[in-house]
Amino acid sequence: MTDLDHQQRGHLAALDAAYARVLDAEGYDGVLLYSGHPARHFADDQHASFAAYGHFMHWTGLSGLAHSWLLVRPGQAPALYFHAPDDFWHLPARLPDEAWVDHFRVEARDEVVPPALPPGRFAALGDIDPAIAAALEAELNPRSLVTRLDELRVRKSPYEVACLREANRRALAGHLAARAAFLDGAGELDCQLAYLGAARSRESDLPYPNIVGINAHGGVLHYQHHDSDAPARRRSLLLDGGHRYRGYCADITRTWSGPDADPAFAPLVEGVTALQRRLIAALRPGVSYVELHERMHAGLGALLAEHGLIRCSAASAVTAGITRAFCPHGLGHLLGLQVHDPGGRVAADGTALPPPAKHPALRLTRELEAGMVVTMEPGLYIIPMLLDRFRHHRDIDWSRVDGLAEHGGIRIEDNVLITDHGPVNLTLHDTE
Ligand code: GLY
Ligand code: MN
Ligand code: MN
Repeated sequence: MTDLDHQQRGHLAALDAAYARVLDAEGYDGVLLYSGHPARHFADDQHASFAAYGHFMHWTGLSGLAHSWLLVRPGQAPALYFHAPDDFWHLPARLPDEAWVDHFRVEARDEVVPPALPPGRFAALGDIDPAIAAALEAELNPRSLVTRLDELRVRKSPYEVACLREANRRALAGHLAARAAFLDGAGELDCQLAYLGAARSRESDLPYPNIVGINAHGGVLHYQHHDSDAPARRRSLLLDGGHRYRGYCADITRTWSGPDADPAFAPLVEGVTALQRRLIAALRPGVSYVELHERMHAGLGALLAEHGLIRCSAASAVTAGITRAFCPHGLGHLLGLQVHDPGGRVAADGTALPPPAKHPALRLTRELEAGMVVTMEPGLYIIPMLLDRFRHHRDIDWSRVDGLAEHGGIRIEDNVLITDHGPVNLTLHDTE
């Protein structure tokens, strides 16, 4: 057994106990988790890419296993019904040769319908077809149970942290290769191909579509294309790229200055990086993430003033909403089996914690606790549709702002574990 196998054994034992406690509290005899299935393109025989349901992955880590079911009952080995039909068009699914499989009672099946449930009160969770759900003697996706199970994913076990660290290691290799390709003259598509090659991942296995924005594309927050030609002038590359390891996601962003960058751009990248490091240093149990997000805005105001993009104080820029026009997204979010992991906007007891009205995009509004893994991703962008409403604001130096518009934006994003002894950055390695 490897160290990871041992850690995973502890993870599964803790899940057995936690599910028994939650099911007892909610009055269920068991829960049936459905892994899900890929969507089929309308009137076509092709399918979209697929990722399994988070609670199914919490036990199995199998992000690509569709049409499969897991029955969890306190005091019994969880039963994994995995879909492996005889098929000469596709390679039937096989469970990996890993120690964790022994924790389960495993049954390979060729039907997609759920297994028969024993007598008792059961819940069924997942993206279950309504016709199939109607035939099940189970409550479908009861909110209170789902919220409690979400909460089990908020604090990561040592096994989960090890997986997140490995996903980060692989993603960072992709980032460094993409940066080298960019500096060597590559356009977006070739940066992406360099990333995939070094990270050793096919595109459809990534936890989200990589964002590869050269120049002004870096200012489109979820820019979705990969231009195949390199632009004549290369000012900047913003790459938000991930990886998935045993289900667990990395979510890393780097911004690089190109050979044709305005001299003002690289110091701004350094400024955002320094701000991010300061915010990471403040991560510890008991800290309010909303407060950290507000601290990010104060820091962005100071950065805009220091670099001459605004003429007013940092505090005035925050009050006037200028910093929000430069950064409309949140400081970060919980990370785990999903890039935007659940549980970020509810307290541990299930009370809703909606984001402040001024920061509707903030995905994490709770107090930090040891075991949480969060992203830290301050950004600073030139987004014309947001900045235009300040076009006549005398506190903005438009000649400087417009001079940077073709650089798009800056985001620096790392994945950080909160511990009682301070933050542990899972992204940074000696190679950077
Ligand atoms: N890659 C998506 C995000 O950073 O939240
Ligand atoms: Mn993120
Ligand atoms: Mn990201």
